[in-house]
Amino acid sequence: MHRPILIIGACGQIGTELTMELRERYGNEKVIASDIREGGDTLMGSGPFELLDATNYAAIEDVVMHYEIDEIYLMAAMLSATAEKFPMRAWNLNMNSLFNVLNLAKESKISKIFWPSSIAVFGPNTPKEDTPQNTIMEPSTVYGISKQSGERWCEYYFKKYGVDVRSVRYPGLISWKTMPGGGTTDYAVEIYHEALQKGQYECFLDKGTKLPMMYMDDAIRATIDLMESPSEKIKVRSSYNLASMSFTPEEIAESIQKHIPDFTISYAPDFRQQIADSWPSSIDDSAAKEQWGWEPKFNLDQTTLEMLNNLK
Ligand code: SER
Repeated sequence: MHRPILIIGACGQIGTELTMELRERYGNEKVIASDIREGGDTLMGSGPFELLDATNYAAIEDVVMHYEIDEIYLMAAMLSATAEKFPMRAWNLNMNSLFNVLNLAKESKISKIFWPSSIAVFGPNTPKEDTPQNTIMEPSTVYGISKQSGERWCEYYFKKYGVDVRSVRYPGLISWKTMPGGGTTDYAVEIYHEALQKGQYECFLDKGTKLPMMYMDDAIRATIDLMESPSEKIKVRSSYNLASMSFTPEEIAESIQKHIPDFTISYAPDFRQQIADSWPSSIDDSAAKEQWGWEPKFNLDQTTLEMLNNLK
């Protein structure tokens, strides 16, 4: 019997699907969804929900005590593009929410944490192709700085206080159930919606901008597999590189054209181009593969098929 789990940020792009998958596996009543706002009908109707501000320690503690929560998945964060517009708010949300959860575990009120990091922890001086697990990390975005700092704190809490915190560096995530919000990789979701609705898409990143990406099903499976792995297998307590595919805007357009031959793409790069240019093009995730058996399943064409079929 699995003990109760709390998802903070359950109404976001990842949180929605993570909550539904955890409810499927462990039972609806065992998985408490929470967010600063209410979510979609499926999520709200399938199990317990609490309105919760991730920066409010006392409020999180109340929910933890009330439901006898054992594990927290902290999915609330301000993403890269929005964080450039509100640097202090991003730092406040991304860091304080993490400290709240780490401190609950330090006080033995919960026993396990999942906290997502990102490819944004890397910067312009990082090797761009096959970016290693351990390499130069000089993030140049507010979001990247918060994730890099978060990784350092996770490892610190593990080493110093024995907190069982686990993390992956998600690439750009592609999904159809819930829209992403405020990220630099969001174009790879928008493009499918507009291909179906308008037959054309104006991309806010330029031709040739190759970024690491992943279909949501793979990301959810990686997350839960990591959380279910025996503790001794998890050698990396900052965050694991995680990869499945990398592509450019023109490559995703070609993949869509296999189903919608008249689809066209044009380019109008904005401030997000600079963010994308500072990130890796491809990621070496051999540590995750070796240590806890990670293996991706969806390539670009399979992702396109899933996206178009489900959005139709
Ligand atoms: N997908 C995120 C973003 O673009 C990166 O973690 O901000």
